[in-house]
Amino acid sequence: MKQTMISGTGRYLPTRLVTNDDLALWMDTSDEWIRQRTGIEQRYWVPEEGGVGASDLGFEASKIALDRAGWRPDDIDLIIFATLSPDFNFPGSGCLLQHKLGLETTPALDIRQQCSGFVYGIATADAFIRSGLYNRILFVGAEVHSTGLDISSRGRDVTVIFGDGAGALCLEGAEPDRTCGVMASVLHSQGEFSSSLMTEAPVSRQNPRLSEAMLREGRHYPTMDGRSVFKHAVRRLPLVAQEALDKAGLTLSDIDLFIPHQANLRINQAFQKAMDLPDEKIFNNIQRYGNTTAASIPIAFDEAIEKGLLKTGSTVMFLGLGAGLTWGAVIYRFAG
Ligand code: UT7
Repeated sequence: MKQTMISGTGRYLPTRLVTNDDLALWMDTSDEWIRQRTGIEQRYWVPEEGGVGASDLGFEASKIALDRAGWRPDDIDLIIFATLSPDFNFPGSGCLLQHKLGLETTPALDIRQQCSGFVYGIATADAFIRSGLYNRILFVGAEVHSTGLDISSRGRDVTVIFGDGAGALCLEGAEPDRTCGVMASVLHSQGEFSSSLMTEAPVSRQNPRLSEAMLREGRHYPTMDGRSVFKHAVRRLPLVAQEALDKAGLTLSDIDLFIPHQANLRINQAFQKAMDLPDEKIFNNIQRYGNTTAASIPIAFDEAIEKGLLKTGSTVMFLGLGAGLTWGAVIYRFAG
């Protein structure tokens, strides 16, 4: 069985900077509240007038990752696109990206695992590569949240945390080597808590799926029981980190850097405390980008590489929890 290696990464953020003070012009919130409760100082959103979808952001990030990997688009055997904000309800954004890359019949699949889109996506890519079915996989996590948020005070708890953006990775099968590549992945879900974080409408169990009344009630906007999701994250993330370490046969000290999903700085600080990690072992950038869901880990990973925090032989753990509920962790070691 081959080993899954990462050959290139890329990220792309739209250019419209939205500060906490900007949000306070539209809804009853404040820079102080947002910083204290989430750590977020600003985020980037696509242009207000529209015209930019998740596949567009994903395309920009993909071009950078492909370039760094030295791949041409037709080197790609499979596209995996993780998003909760696809361009359309269907077809998936992976198909749209495939066309934008100038490809004709390369397979593409979408993963709808929200904040766990990265860990689910990498685990899926790794399984395809190990099975021998596909050898070169482009993974993209991309979100356009801003066009689907309630910017009135009604939506303030959810709206202030989300940002738009995209991250991409080129994953490739290499000859087996037990000491590097994707070392372990662990995935979980718990549908019991599906209503804790969701966008309900359009809803297939209702006819019509979207009505004037539903729009008035704001059921097409995301809703969240923030405290409950927060508590699940703080409890689950240390457990899944240990589960991944056990699976890989590694210990905490073997991990050079933890890159958690960027949902709330306080969640990551609680994780850091629970795992007794020094500041230099955990990477956070939510302050600048907000929560970009499926894009948050690949954006952070790309930045961590750029800052020289990960190099030859480094071992990194990615982990996250979000809607579903879904959560998981992946351990990756760079070639030595
Ligand atoms: O990435 C996907 C997974 N999502 C997460 O992991 C998010 C997890 N949850 C969170 O990050 C936090 O729960 C939030 C940031 C969403 C909220 O922070 P919190 O500390 O849990 O606040 P809260 O919901 O308990 O609300 C505290 C107060 C409430 O007012 P009262 O009832 O105490 O008078 C809210 O109405 O803060 C109020 N509030 C706000 N005030 C100003 C809620 N949102 C805002 C806001 N600005 N944006």
